[in-house]
Amino acid sequence: MSATDFVVEARGLAKSYRDGGIRYPALRGIDLQVKTGEFVALMGPSGSGKSTLLHLVGGLDRPDSGYLRVAGHDLPSMSETALAIFRRRCVGIVFQYFNLLHHLDALTNVMLPALLAGTPPSAARARALTLLETLGMTGLAAKRPPQLSGGERQRVAIARALINEPQVLLADEPTGSLDREAAGHILDLLAEANARGQTILLVTHDPSVAGRAQRVLHLRDGQIMHEAAAPS
Ligand SMILES: Nc1ncnc2c1ncn2[C@@H]1O[C@H](COP(=O)(O)OP(=O)(O)O)[C@@H](O)[C@H]1O
Ligand SMILES: [Mg+2]
Repeated sequence: MSATDFVVEARGLAKSYRDGGIRYPALRGIDLQVKTGEFVALMGPSGSGKSTLLHLVGGLDRPDSGYLRVAGHDLPSMSETALAIFRRRCVGIVFQYFNLLHHLDALTNVMLPALLAGTPPSAARARALTLLETLGMTGLAAKRPPQLSGGERQRVAIARALINEPQVLLADEPTGSLDREAAGHILDLLAEANARGQTILLVTHDPSVAGRAQRVLHLRDGQIMHEAAAPS
């Protein structure tokens, strides 16, 4: 297998946060290889570095040191402008706390990444409405996030991440505030995206969610512990 078969490749990835004069290491040398089209789940206790790792892979934050290549881009060497374009073109991100724009309605939140990528408004609107319909949100398209429940916001965040059919989909506990049926719906949608060739890196606390992945990684204290094939 050649290096280009990996859509995510990290070696010795380290990241600390500073508070006052003190450094708190969040990632202590992560080695990770994700193949194109793979569906990988990331598990681990709270504070183990899962969100930090996702943010680095998504180009939202920079490592202190280490090698990181995502979708053919050497992220640590890129300018802020280049990283913004990378985020728009190559990744879709479902944040742990959604990060929706509260002054825009659900439909516009979902359309926005498509508009930013240059999709004509009519096409972006049609695709956003289809995604919202798939997620059982048709009647809620005109509501703003503060008027929606946690589970509904989560579905808007997922539709927003999927609209540009990104090469790499990063999802931070995307089923965390959903009941079992809604969670199953989301997982079906992710499985469809994966079947179309999109690579997925998903953080979850739920073993049944991790069970949908091809591979499960366990983080502890900023390090990957061991790899196991997902139970089938
Ligand atoms: N913005 C931040 N500033 C300071 N410390 C942070 C920040 N984000 C995360 N941390 C710390 O880094 C460690 C890893 O956090 P995080 O990646 O959010 O873990 P997880 O997602 O696994 O719960 C934790 O100790 C957390 O408190
Ligand atoms: Mg987290």
